[in-house]
Amino acid sequence: MTTSRESTPISLTATLVVLFAAVSIAVLAVTNAFVFFFVEQQWRSGAQQDLEVAGNVLRLLVASQPNATAIANRGDRITGELGKNRRLTFSVSAATGEPLVTTLPDGFPAEAFRRAGDIEHPVDWTWQDKHFSIAEISGKFGDGSPARLRLSLDVSEPKDIQGAYSRALVLITVAGGLIAAIFGLAVVRHGLLPLRRMATAAGEITASRLGERLRPEDTPAELRDLATGFNGMLGRLEDSFRRLNDFSSDIAHELRTPINNLLGQTQVALSRSRSSDEYRSVLESNAEEFERLSRMIQDMLFLAQADNAQAALRTEEVNLRAECAKLVEFFEPLIEEGRLRVELRGDASVRADRLLLQRALANLLSNAVRNTPPDSVIGIDISTAESAGSEVCISNPGPGIAPEEMPRLFDRFYRTRYAREAKTEGTGLGLAIVRSIARLHGGDVEAHSTPGVQTRFCLILPNSSRQDA
Ligand SMILES: Nc1ncnc2c1ncn2[C@@H]1O[C@H](COP(=O)(O)OP(=O)(O)OP(=O)(O)O)[C@@H](O)[C@H]1O
Ligand SMILES: [Mg+2]
Repeated sequence: MTTSRESTPISLTATLVVLFAAVSIAVLAVTNAFVFFFVEQQWRSGAQQDLEVAGNVLRLLVASQPNATAIANRGDRITGELGKNRRLTFSVSAATGEPLVTTLPDGFPAEAFRRAGDIEHPVDWTWQDKHFSIAEISGKFGDGSPARLRLSLDVSEPKDIQGAYSRALVLITVAGGLIAAIFGLAVVRHGLLPLRRMATAAGEITASRLGERLRPEDTPAELRDLATGFNGMLGRLEDSFRRLNDFSSDIAHELRTPINNLLGQTQVALSRSRSSDEYRSVLESNAEEFERLSRMIQDMLFLAQADNAQAALRTEEVNLRAECAKLVEFFEPLIEEGRLRVELRGDASVRADRLLLQRALANLLSNAVRNTPPDSVIGIDISTAESAGSEVCISNPGPGIAPEEMPRLFDRFYRTRYAREAKTEGTGLGLAIVRSIARLHGGDVEAHSTPGVQTRFCLILPNSSRQDA
């Protein structure tokens, strides 16, 4: 069934490809972020170690000098000692005042040290496009007076390397996402191949080729249920189509015989001039045939309406025993003619459309009367069960219905082989009508037959039919 919706559903392929790419990018991004922070942590701990070593050496050197003045004079020794690490620069000053010794680059802003942390917590400082890790510690000269030691380590190189890394990692992530999308597209296309094959197979099935089936054994496990369900639907469609086809040919066939009869009779009557009595007799016979045709057409019309649930029900409280008694009375002439006896047992009331119920019961009773051998008994049993609803079962002895004929018994125009051979009257619409009426009431009709022994038809009506709702 199609519904007119504005939004088109998102393609499965597109969804899967986007998910594929998104997952890949997420995984790569997390991995790369980890690598990025790991590299940073590595160079930072290296820098901190360098500063710590240098700080300790500087402290010792300063302490080995008697006082601030001596330091100024022995600056060479100190710079020589620490100058081996060219990335490292420093300055030594008394608690206040200008540096006594300094290797800090010319113009290195003194304000940088205002925020500098100790050796364990050096801070970053960028100056002239270079990056530094700086720290300030205190020391003591030989005479115990305080000294201020400033250290700066040039970390531009590892920081640049880290920057290059991060750019490469971003590229890797983007490229990884793209590769995953392309790869995903190929995988999804391949994965959906069975679905496409199913669609092609389904596309090849037409009304005239409803016998075609998908092969569930060739379908992946996930699609097997779909294939089986699809095959089930085809089976039901094929069955409906067959019944519809049979129905149309049955209609043609059923109409042909009476119309041929009418035509034949009329042509014979017209072949020469006749007395008015003869014309009257032909017209009377034609009128009978017309009546039969008209009844048949009405029956077909009723069935078509009932199928579309168009038949409006006028439900009322109906006593099943009283209705059956009335019917028996109506069929009395036929019952007497067949030397039959009807036994009516049980009692129940239902809510139903009285006229339709009468029609259904009349069909069942007329079938029973027609198919019961003389001097036999027809039983009508009325019963009621709390859950299942009420039931009227009409049973009769007689030829019965062969088990292989049972599935088609309620089909339109279906008549048993026995009925066709015995040329009993009837169009085969009766039971189809009974079933339609039962279903209109939310009930059903069941047939049980032991050929040659007994046949029993049960009309089941729910306690509260759906029209009451
Ligand atoms: N009680 C029964 N015993 C044996 N055969 C039956 C019985 N009821 C119905 N049948 C068989 O089932 C077939 C279908 O019955 P159905 O009432 O649909 O058609 P019909 O009686 O032939 O025609 P219609 O009811 O339209 O006049 C008939 O051929 C009939 O022989
Ligand atoms: Mg009948």
